[in-house]
Amino acid sequence: MKDVYILAIESSCDETSIAIVKNGNEVISLSTNTQISIHQNYGGVVPELASRMHTENILYVLDAALKKSNISINDINAVAVTYGPGLMGSLLIGIEAAKVISYIYKKPLIAVNHMAGHIYANKLSNGMNFPLIALVVSGGHTDIIYMKEDYSFQVLGSTLDDAIGEAYDKIARVLGLKYPGGPNIERLALNGNPSYKLPIPMKDQSLNMSFSGLKSSIVNLVHNECQKGKEVNKEDLACSFQTVAVNELIRKLEMAINTVDVKNVIIAGGVSANKYLRTKVKELTDKYSIKLNVPSFEYCTDNAAMIGAAAYYLYQNNIFSDLNLNAMPNENIY
Ligand code: KG4
Ligand code: ZN
Repeated sequence: MKDVYILAIESSCDETSIAIVKNGNEVISLSTNTQISIHQNYGGVVPELASRMHTENILYVLDAALKKSNISINDINAVAVTYGPGLMGSLLIGIEAAKVISYIYKKPLIAVNHMAGHIYANKLSNGMNFPLIALVVSGGHTDIIYMKEDYSFQVLGSTLDDAIGEAYDKIARVLGLKYPGGPNIERLALNGNPSYKLPIPMKDQSLNMSFSGLKSSIVNLVHNECQKGKEVNKEDLACSFQTVAVNELIRKLEMAINTVDVKNVIIAGGVSANKYLRTKVKELTDKYSIKLNVPSFEYCTDNAAMIGAAAYYLYQNNIFSDLNLNAMPNENIY
């Protein structure tokens, strides 16, 4: 079979990223411009600034991705782009760039869902063996998904309120840590003990999850101590939060494993970079003798390589978009 080269664009939040991916599993080049240092000044992503920065950066990122790949834009087979979920203004910049490339170079256009991208990031490392359970943990999502085959997404459970990454970010903020909070909480937790008594989220038997109560109890605890002129032990609090939150994910994942027939568990999304989470998921999959696949660290947070990986299936099945493609900020695949 002839090799397929997909040029993929991701701009759904605060990373402008372009990749060239071969046959859905080999990254030929990846170029990413992160806006983190700008949004850090505000404690989180400012949508208006994000879209402006995408506009300024996207052509440089495209140039860098093409140069690194040694492939001419004429030789790509298709152009893929994230169409949602994400920030409207940010998505539109990537979509417009993709449409221009598609029109000028006469390449088919592929619309990729951002969450499918996170899941298919696994194709770039250890692959995916069906049927599988995907634990999707990001800044906007916390889902347990059952996949019998490619592009079949059955939601077994989901957060009813905050996503786990959102909880990490908000708790980091109240502890005075920089955005994005996840890696900073993880670092602090390494030197702490889980000594704070925190509420256990959702003691029920459903596969749904909730993290807003846990988050609020920590925010209140920090404020109460502050009002008394005292300070919390940040390391211990970070460790206590991470322990409770990850244990809850593991408890629900274990219930899911007992509900369906699975060969493989995969993890996906920014929070899947967390080493404590990876260790706990590994302990669980070892207990059930299920194979665990994890994405490489570089493909956990937002990047265009994962979009190229997810686009390959759509390419093979001739699922293309036309130039009417629009951004869908709240679009779900499941
Ligand atoms: O997938 P992602 O890059 O963007 C979304 O689609 O949301 O995920 C970003 C989220 C942020 O909440 C960030 O704090 C979290 O992933 N994150 C982490 C770690 N690295 C990134 N959370 C915990 N531990 C980490 N090492
Ligand atoms: Zn993401």
